[in-house]
Order: sequence, then C-alpha cells, then structure tokens
Amino acid sequence: MFDRRHFLGSVAACALAFSALAGSPAAAADPILIRFSHVVAPDTPKGKGADKFKELAEKYTNGAVKVDVYPNSQLYKDKEELEALQLGAVQMLAPSLAKFGPLGIKDFEVFDLPFMFPSYDALHKVTYGPIGKELLDKLGSKGIQGLAFWDNGFKIMSANSKLYTPDDFLGLKMRIQSSKVLEAEMNALGAVPQVMAFSEVYQGLQTGVVDGTENPPSNMYTQKMHEVQKFATLSNHGYLGYAVIVNKKFWDELPDDVRGNLDKAMKESTEYANSIAKEENEKALQAMKDAGTTEFHELTDDERAQWKKVLLPVHEEMASRIGEDLIKQVQAETGAASN
Ligand code: LMR
Repeated sequence: MFDRRHFLGSVAACALAFSALAGSPAAAADPILIRFSHVVAPDTPKGKGADKFKELAEKYTNGAVKVDVYPNSQLYKDKEELEALQLGAVQMLAPSLAKFGPLGIKDFEVFDLPFMFPSYDALHKVTYGPIGKELLDKLGSKGIQGLAFWDNGFKIMSANSKLYTPDDFLGLKMRIQSSKVLEAEMNALGAVPQVMAFSEVYQGLQTGVVDGTENPPSNMYTQKMHEVQKFATLSNHGYLGYAVIVNKKFWDELPDDVRGNLDKAMKESTEYANSIAKEENEKALQAMKDAGTTEFHELTDDERAQWKKVLLPVHEEMASRIGEDLIKQVQAETGAASN
C-alpha cells in the first residue's frame, strides 16, 4: 500500500542526504582558501593576530573558509608579497605601513615620520578615525582592499656602537624598510640608509653588511637581533604597524554571507592584535634585557632634544612626497605639531 507520509519522508530524507552530499563533503573537500603570508615570527603581535584571524574565520564560516598562515617570509619576502597579492597568488597580507611606497601609494609613509605618534592612543585617533579609513580606501586603485590597521609598536635604534646623540650615527650603515621617510630619517642622522628585506636583517647585522637598524622590541627579539647588536637606545622615535589587506577581486567575489563572517572575524582579530601589541613589546624588551647581550640606553632629556632637532625637519622635507595636508591633519590629531 502506498504510504504517502512514508514517501514524503523519504523524499525529505533524500533531499537532506543530497544537500549533505552537495554541501558538507564537497565544502569540506573544497573550502575557499585564504593564504595569509607575512614576514615576522608567529610569536609577535602580527603573527598572533594572523593566527587569531584564522581561528575566527574558520569558526564563523563553519569551515567554508580555510586560512593558511605562512609566517617568517616562508612564502614571500617584503616586496614579492605585495606583487603576489596583486597577482592573486596569496589572498591576504599585513605589510608594514612603511612598505607601500613601491606600490605607488606614498601616503602611508606618514606613519614613518619621526616623533609623529607620542603614544598608542594618539596613533589610534588616526588609524581608527576618518584619516585611517581614507588611507585604506586609496588601496582600491591598486586592486587591493584595505581591511584594518594592526599595531606593532614604537621603534628602538640598535647598533654595535653607542647611539646616544645624532653624532653617534655618523657614517653607520643602517638597515631600513623600503620607505623614503625612513631614508630621510637616517640621512638626517648622518647615517647611510640601506633598504633590506626583513628576512635578511639578522644575517646582514651578523656579517656586518649593515651596522644597525630600527625595530620595535618584538621584532628585534623574535629575529634574535639582540644577539648581534651590542647597543640599543630606547628612543621610541617612530612607529611600526600594519595594514591588513586582501586581493580586491577575490574579496568582492566572495558570497555576501561569507564576506560578512570574515568581516566579523577581522574586526575581532584586530581588537585582539591591538590589545596585545604593547604588552608583547614590553615582554620582548624584558627578555632581551634578561639575555644580557645588548646594553639598553634611555635617552636623557637633552639627548632627546638633540634627536628631535635633527629629525623633526623630516616632516617638512617629506611634505611634497606625502602631502602637506595629510601631514598637517595627522599632526593635528596626534599633537605632534606641538613637539
Ligand atoms: C621590517 O621589515 O622591519 C618590518 O616591517 C617587519 C614587520 O613586518 O614587522
């Protein structure tokens, strides 16, 4: 006898089984893959932020998205990673704000200006405010979608000789990131700036290709630079942080619900990364002090005044490159104008 209820039940079961077949096994076998490449160690503010994004993105999309994080320049070095993103070989990066110049976007170098950001709070007025949003929007013309700003921290100067006053920099070969502002900064100090990929810095310092460099403590420690730098000055003369970016075509073509969940994961991992950055740097500095291989120096008021006298003119020098208006807007937000 035909049992209509049984028949309907079977159809429903079939439909369910089919949708399970179409959905989960296929989705599990073939999730949307995000390759997130970066150049620092996993145990840094950016490394931890990337791992947190992976965790949350996979959770909020129920596995429809898989995020593979490649730390330590495993996949690409500084310059290559931006090219790889534009070509779609990787989908997500978080390059330092100092590395966007070669892409033809000079505005981000405003973050490299010496003594521009007296604190994380001052910085956040820019990165969380309208200036930050406008800056991220500029990336669209390069096929890149800017998603967020992630903090690292304030830089210290290191070398194998003491760096107390600007005179101490005379003739030293100092490794910098690929930023014209950082080049001008080192020139102002009388040093010889040398652009070098992050993955090559340890060896460059060890072999004497360069004499010194600048970095937040977390980068210096996790790359073991303190083992090959006898002196460091806690100058906090400049900021280093990141823009988290994705390939725009990839992002735009994601299903709306997936993009929404990834937005949520990005928002929360940004909160996380920016909440740990300060402490991560403090811990790294303490670990280097404990290691005892580097002598750390606090600038006296007089020394700091000498650094500022030499470095603040870089703001004006770079106005034609970065844009005078942008520099003034940022100075007004951070109070740097009254330095
Ligand atoms: C550097 O090259 O010094 C930094 O940009 C590395 C990083 O990503 O923190």
